Amino acid sequence: MTAAGPLDVERAAAAVAPLLPPALVPLFDARFTRSHALFDEYVYRLTVNVFVEAGLAAAVRDWAGAAEVVARGGLDPRHGAVPVDWMLRHLARRGALARRSADGGPRFRAEGVLDPLETGSLVAQQRAHDAGCLPSYTLAETVARDYPAFLRGERSGEEILFSPARLSLWTGYFSNDNALYAVNNRVGAAALEAWLPAGRGSVLEIGGGLGSATAAALERLAEAGRSGALQAYRFTELVPAFLRRAQRSLERFAGAWPLTFAPLDMNRAFGEQGVDPASATIVYAVNTLHVAHDLAFTLGEIRRALAPGGQLIVSECIRPTPEATLYPEFVFSLLATFRAPRLHAVYRPNGGFLTPEQWTAALEAAGFADVRVLPDIARIRGTVPSFYVAVIGGTRAA
Ligand SMILES: C[S@@+](CC[C@H](N)C(=O)[O-])C[C@H]1O[C@@H](n2cnc3c(N)ncnc32)[C@H](O)[C@@H]1O
Repeated sequence: MTAAGPLDVERAAAAVAPLLPPALVPLFDARFTRSHALFDEYVYRLTVNVFVEAGLAAAVRDWAGAAEVVARGGLDPRHGAVPVDWMLRHLARRGALARRSADGGPRFRAEGVLDPLETGSLVAQQRAHDAGCLPSYTLAETVARDYPAFLRGERSGEEILFSPARLSLWTGYFSNDNALYAVNNRVGAAALEAWLPAGRGSVLEIGGGLGSATAAALERLAEAGRSGALQAYRFTELVPAFLRRAQRSLERFAGAWPLTFAPLDMNRAFGEQGVDPASATIVYAVNTLHVAHDLAFTLGEIRRALAPGGQLIVSECIRPTPEATLYPEFVFSLLATFRAPRLHAVYRPNGGFLTPEQWTAALEAAGFADVRVLPDIARIRGTVPSFYVAVIGGTRAA
């Protein structure tokens, strides 16, 4: 979605509403849709600017594939291969580059002069519309400044994104006040409420980060009158600074909910990290499993941690179609874990986000039954191609 005028967003929100289950309709209203469209345009303009600043406009004067653009631009292929491929496809999607299919992958060419685009007016519009989303802009703009140095191999993405001085970028971004991020937490919370089995459940959350998904989930369960529905909620996270901060920010829930906090690396056996087999009725993860190094391994560990009949509930950014480019990838392609997981020909042909079909195949291959996608992106994408948030659920068969 690129148009962000009031009528366009009203129309887009009205088009998606009938395709959503009623519980999700309020999350994708015109207010959210306008922020989504504004930020999509903002990231597009940043992409043009990074492309020009990194000297890549000259590299597409003649037809070129991603690897040639990386070589012509003098970039480090270990850093540049995935993000440049993304940029080329993203710019072509908007008509800034021509694209044609070829053996060995698509080729691209600039049809005219690529000039830098102004971005300030979009920040001003977002501020007036919903200032809570501004942390997404700050994060993307910070990354854009360092992108050329990253592409040349002078700085790692981990250094750019996770330097201690930049922790505040993440507290603003991973927040339920930031509708652009919180939408994943809210869709996840709705699925958790819907799929939490009757009786008293035991939740294991993976990659809980700064705790925003947990807060959204517990608030939703409380609103639904299900405060007594849990006998345990084990919050886990890999990064110690995130885990400490989450524990502090979730303190307000500790009296009413059986919360515990522990480190957990989803790339290592769960058993050796204190998670017993069949100990969870729900494994919950928001925007985390797509960075698993080996998705099959992590899904196998999750399956083992679940009791028979237990549910895996994963809220994710979903790639609507294999060719689609999503704006969060502009930032997250800097991370090696994001762009270079272990591949699988059927369900992990590339790094980054997965399509609904890839998630379904991955869960089924790991032994999950009754795999479902909420909302049904496969149904929505024909009408709203930029819709990219969903929850995947699967049941551990007995
Ligand atoms: C996009 S964030 C999601 C944060 C959180 N769910 C929230 O909503 O605030 C992804 C999280 O996965 C964590 N992560 C990355 N690699 C991990 C691993 N190997 N094991 C567990 N968590 C990991 C990151 O530290 C980060 O907190």
